[in-house]
Amino acid sequence: MSAQILDGKAIAADIRVGIKAQVEAMIAVGKRQPGLAVVLVGEDPASQVYVRNKRAACAEVGFYSELHQLPSDIPVARLLALIDDLNARETIDGILVQLPLPDHIDEEQVIERILPTKDVDGFHPYNVGRLTLRMPLLRPCTPKGVMTLLERTGRQLEGLDAIIIGQSNIVGRPMALELLAARCTISICHSRTRDLPGKIIAADLVVAAVGRPHFVQGDWVKEGAIVIDVGINRTAAGALVGDVDFPAVAERAAWITPVPGGVGPMTIASLLENTLQAARLHVPG
Ligand code: GUN
Repeated sequence: MSAQILDGKAIAADIRVGIKAQVEAMIAVGKRQPGLAVVLVGEDPASQVYVRNKRAACAEVGFYSELHQLPSDIPVARLLALIDDLNARETIDGILVQLPLPDHIDEEQVIERILPTKDVDGFHPYNVGRLTLRMPLLRPCTPKGVMTLLERTGRQLEGLDAIIIGQSNIVGRPMALELLAARCTISICHSRTRDLPGKIIAADLVVAAVGRPHFVQGDWVKEGAIVIDVGINRTAAGALVGDVDFPAVAERAAWITPVPGGVGPMTIASLLENTLQAARLHVPG
């Protein structure tokens, strides 16, 4: 293997230490602790794990957090009323509605109901618009975490040819905006893209967010590329694997993220950063 590992687990732990110190400093001068409300609708097992990990990270850095666990058949009006309450609560800086939501609920309507300054996921059209215009406020957590990982490589991003595989609102699209703001030349690929391997091989930076285990093959990747694996797929045997064929791609890449322990912990670290940022918007001084 020739690639260096981008250790998201260790970098996220560093970030949590820094955030904890900042919370302690806020409390020392009489400010309240940052607060996050997490809303979980239904019983999706993966969502339950993500929510548990997010709340554990909040506890570690000294944030207040509360969980609103709601039945999957909750009427939309009740969910919107809960968001209105949380928007009005002074001790809540961030509201995170775990996605996906059940089919009868319009995710966009729910996201738009969250106050933009409490939208710590960075999914509200206001925050996406600000990112588009290169004046970001709260930035989507996974792409923000990827940018932090890329900074840690020490590599200059300006001018790199970057390819993003996946066009979701949560990862692919905001990832493209982040990399464009960093002055990469970007391509976004999706299920209708022709000759995907031929496009990936030309890229200096590959971000895989397709949700298909081991999708990106070793011989698709240029020697010396940076490869970021956003995929978290569970195999029939219960193992967590990424979207990248790690051993084969690591032979050629210069940098690569592992799964688990790469992008996943960075998403949570970014959520903590966003919640602290939101608290600074809400708490004067
Ligand atoms: N579902 C998958 N990823 C995310 C995320 O980053 N935030 C929320 N709210 N839901 C998700």
